[in-house]
Amino acid sequence: MEILIRDTPESVARTAADVFAAHVRPGAVLGLATGSTPVATYKELIFRVEAGNLSFRGCQAFLLDEYVGLPKEHEQSYHSTIRREFTSHIDIDDADVHGPDGTNPDPHAAALDYEKQLKNSGGVDIQILGVGTNGHIGFNEPSSSLNSHTRLKTLHPQTVADNARFFDSEEDVPRHVLTQGLGTISQAKHLMLLATGEGKADAVQALAEGPLSAFCPASVLQWHEHATVICDEAAASKLANTDYYRFAETHKPEWQGFGGL
Ligand code: GLP
Repeated sequence: MEILIRDTPESVARTAADVFAAHVRPGAVLGLATGSTPVATYKELIFRVEAGNLSFRGCQAFLLDEYVGLPKEHEQSYHSTIRREFTSHIDIDDADVHGPDGTNPDPHAAALDYEKQLKNSGGVDIQILGVGTNGHIGFNEPSSSLNSHTRLKTLHPQTVADNARFFDSEEDVPRHVLTQGLGTISQAKHLMLLATGEGKADAVQALAEGPLSAFCPASVLQWHEHATVICDEAAASKLANTDYYRFAETHKPEWQGFGGL
């Protein structure tokens, strides 16, 4: 796992955009995440497209998760969110942006279908991840099997409370979701997790320096051969080994870059 610490959330977004852009080419399969953390990275990528320095033509994009029961056009469905925050502003066809179908009355069938779509795509080249305050990624709450696949999950009350800010009230937050499993996410060739703000400091410490455990779903990154964590000083504030992470980045061989192994 490579841990990159930046002074500000803006600098996190610039580094994340650099790492992500290294994978963008026709035929690339890109794993996108919702939540507020990646929004600044999306803005930076949009800026690069508008400046003519980056093109998503010929790419496919796959979302991590979706609420169950929200109509696709609901402004808080992840289907709508990713289009509003990112994909409608770049040169990718809407039909090439995929997500689990939270409107399917048979969530099990929807989950299997999504796994099939991911498999048929040839696999995700780079997956952006945020992290929940309780260490969840996608919507894999604590106790999620480390080798789980796309399935229905019940949200943790903490996640319902955290996400209530996007809805009129906590009551309106759906309790059920479809999410790629930790095993599904781990199949991506490169995992890039972003974390900003003090509220994520415990989760970052647990995922990077705690045990590999279903209790901290994001710790599954420790088992992945190519994981990059990019966080600001506030999110890194509880890490014990920061001197080494900074030393490793300072002494990174120039040829190595961030995109490849
Ligand atoms: C939701 C999403 C996750 C996201 C998390 C944290 O639960 N399903 O993918 O990482 O929120 O969101 P934020 O970045 O807003 O803190």
